[in-house]
Amino acid sequence: KTATNRRNEPIDMNGDHVYRASTTAPVNIAVIKYWGKRDPRLNLPTNSSLSVTLSQSDLRTHTTASCSPSFSPPDTLLLNAQPQPLSDARSQACLTSLRALRSALESTDPSLPPLSSYPLRLSSANNFPTAAGLASSAAGFAALVRAIADLYQLPQSPTELSLIARQGSGSACRSLLGGYVAWDQGTLLDGTDSKARLVAPRSHWPEMRALILVVSAEKKGVSSTTGMQTTVQTSPMFQTRATQVVPRAMREMETAIAGKDFPGFAKITMRESNSFHATCLDTDPPIFYLNDVSRAAIKGVEAVNEKAGRIAAAYTFDAGPNCVVYYLEEDGDVVAGAFKTVLGEKEGWTGEQGKAVKGAEGVLQGKVMET
Ligand code: ADP
Ligand code: DP6
Ligand code: CO
Repeated sequence: KTATNRRNEPIDMNGDHVYRASTTAPVNIAVIKYWGKRDPRLNLPTNSSLSVTLSQSDLRTHTTASCSPSFSPPDTLLLNAQPQPLSDARSQACLTSLRALRSALESTDPSLPPLSSYPLRLSSANNFPTAAGLASSAAGFAALVRAIADLYQLPQSPTELSLIARQGSGSACRSLLGGYVAWDQGTLLDGTDSKARLVAPRSHWPEMRALILVVSAEKKGVSSTTGMQTTVQTSPMFQTRATQVVPRAMREMETAIAGKDFPGFAKITMRESNSFHATCLDTDPPIFYLNDVSRAAIKGVEAVNEKAGRIAAAYTFDAGPNCVVYYLEEDGDVVAGAFKTVLGEKEGWTGEQGKAVKGAEGVLQGKVMET
């Protein structure tokens, strides 16, 4: 229970301040996929990746970070109202780095309260399915890092913070920036050059839209962390993907984005998603993230493009069955219309936002997103 003092800072029963900051972070959906770690401890990837950060309006994490001298250790995290361990090495790496930055500030300005020494209470909520292949770890760790950086009033840039978020979850480094964002794999052993880079701001190509097709909100059977490490260890195809397929796709994708070439962007996106899922299938034991409903969504996109006589839509799937369809605003009707045709006039589906289609292995729910 907290009261409020005259400066409107909450104070607890002992008269101690509770310092607090809240923030939201959006998900990002990769068009060039990160899959493989060359250093699992530092979360350094085997290949660079590139994503589009979605707008904060729909799929987002909201996180509040508080600290107080009256809180008893250890630091705690509530995720979607459930206690969640914070003792894992990756969360600890984020907390340690952020505390070190705060501590450096405190030593240059002794008038600052010693927040770095207070236990942290973190509370986070995702307004979309967690651990279902819709990038919850990306939005989650981006929000965690941003909230604590705000609490500590750190001067570091989003790019600098991306180095910290990367240690929590690799894909999270890209959610610190908006628009079209690369994560450069880097070459240094300490990972200080493995961070997010703005490829283009959202305003460069504001017509981009993402249709999120939720096939299943269930937690995936194989986490991204585990899945990619098994792939690195067992897939004979993996090496070619990491060293040849992806570097070339990265170059082509950056060119497509620079030239606002949607057919180019779409072809690379779909080929890249398929390459990633082929590598999952090439893993021992094989990892199946896609199901029949996911494949129906692929057929849906193919039908859109066939009917249009050009490439108007692109599908991509992260490590889960849920589909993201990228398209340009001007093709909104074409995209929704073709989905209706392929998936049939099932109950509830009108081709509008938020309506559901029942499939063999789940319910397909569509939602149009701003990027
Ligand atoms: P996804 O495809 O959703 O990113 P992952 O397997 O990569 O799935 O990661 C899921 C894990 O990320 C969760 O089990 C949880 O540990 C962590 N996570 C998800 N959301 C948050 C959050 N808001 N704050 C902190 N950690 C989170
Ligand atoms: C398929 O970033 O979730 O979504 O670093 O182990 O937390 P960890 O993995 P994570 O992996 C994301 C994999 C992907 C592709 C991508 O987002 O680039
Ligand atoms: Co993830």
